[in-house]
Amino acid sequence: MANKPTPASSKKNIARDELQTPKGTRDLIGDNLLHYQGFFEKAAEIALYYGFTPIETPILEKESLFTRAVGDGTDIVDKEMYTLKTKGGDRLALRPEGTAAVMRSYFENGFQSKPQPVMLYYHGPFFRHENPQRGRYRQFYQFGLEIMGSSKSIADATIIRLTSLILQEVGLKDLTIKINSIGDKESQASYRRELTNYYKKHARMICPDCRDRLKNNPLRVLDCKNPKCAPIKQEAPETLEFLSPDSKAHFKQVLEYLGSMGINYEIDSTLVRGLDYYSHTVFEISTTPKDDANNTVPSTAPLSIAGGGRYDYLGKILSGKKDVPSMGAAIGVDRLFDLPSFSKPTPRIVKKPKVFFIQLSFDAKLRCFEIIEILRRAKVPVAQSLTKDSLSAQLATAERLNVSYALILGQKEALEGTVIVRNMDTRSQDTIKVDKLPEYLKKMK
Ligand code: HAM
Repeated sequence: MANKPTPASSKKNIARDELQTPKGTRDLIGDNLLHYQGFFEKAAEIALYYGFTPIETPILEKESLFTRAVGDGTDIVDKEMYTLKTKGGDRLALRPEGTAAVMRSYFENGFQSKPQPVMLYYHGPFFRHENPQRGRYRQFYQFGLEIMGSSKSIADATIIRLTSLILQEVGLKDLTIKINSIGDKESQASYRRELTNYYKKHARMICPDCRDRLKNNPLRVLDCKNPKCAPIKQEAPETLEFLSPDSKAHFKQVLEYLGSMGINYEIDSTLVRGLDYYSHTVFEISTTPKDDANNTVPSTAPLSIAGGGRYDYLGKILSGKKDVPSMGAAIGVDRLFDLPSFSKPTPRIVKKPKVFFIQLSFDAKLRCFEIIEILRRAKVPVAQSLTKDSLSAQLATAERLNVSYALILGQKEALEGTVIVRNMDTRSQDTIKVDKLPEYLKKMK
């Protein structure tokens, strides 16, 4: 059947929509993108110093990986995951988080037979179909750290220390670290029983979602944001009261490590985190209103900048074989940009130009790449606007960039193999042979 012609007005609408990014996503451009790269570079450098190595997993994974790892009944899996069916019939998901994929990779790449623990870091985009608002995007960026194959409390302490260290190194102040323990399997089973009994007693006062959660995944009642459930949640039993002796001892050691490192923390007995794979230590880092000179972060509900915890049982859930005791965390990089104290690091590849290259005439344009390349090899950062012709336009750009020297290549210089070096402050000029240029510029401040 022939396509019906599209009416002119709807064509216009389609064109306008097509020129916009999907809701909750955005382009990262220029300095903004450089600050993301600068942050990743800095965080990766710290992670490398502490013995972590990089990993990059695909943005697409099998849907079942997250359904099993993060859990049916969690908001991430039930409401927020982007899933798709390929033409071949595979069910895939855009990754909503990184831990499940790193654990998948641990098995797929035989990390079990390497010295334990395996310490990995990663960064990149993640996807959750959430309601976009300040600090909440549908495509967002995380920097993650995972220590896999150790049940020792020092692994928990390492992750918490490194996460807060990275945030401090990019200028953040007044961080609040909330920490809790949800214990091992045994502790979780008795807590779940107690929580279910407690909620059942108040079944008529809770929202329909929580009634479902109670049947399918009781711990998730604690993620409920419905004001109707808030008073019930507030009085709910606390995880710490149900810890087995081993879990208690583990948590006590973690707190001792934090204390000895001078890391301040608050124990938050309501913290369980919205992903099913956690056991033992869970923690979140948020800013306090003091870091909010512009009043962008509401003091009532600070957004969490980073979160993580132990996930001792995820290995077995995914592989069906043995447990891989592990601990990790991820920093939400987009949220750092809302904080006035964020230093917005710039990556090392970005060089402040020392000279501005000006070319006058076609003969000069023909030689310009030769000169720029001589300077690049000598590691002298150069700015230029090769598409411009006039001296005044190029000088104006040089002044705007606040560079110390302008290199001027006119027709005469192009023929003689020289270039004029103009000091932009004193306006004094020297004519220099092109091959002597790097040497000359290196002597200048
Ligand atoms: P998560 O708490 O779901 O944990 O996410 C970590 C951080 O990502 C959050 O603290 C937040 O800063 C940021 N984030 C989450 N959702 C959004 C969003 N829609 N927009 C902007 N930022 C967001 C995890 O993902 C775990 N995989 C962390 C982990 C690693 N646990 C163990 N290892």
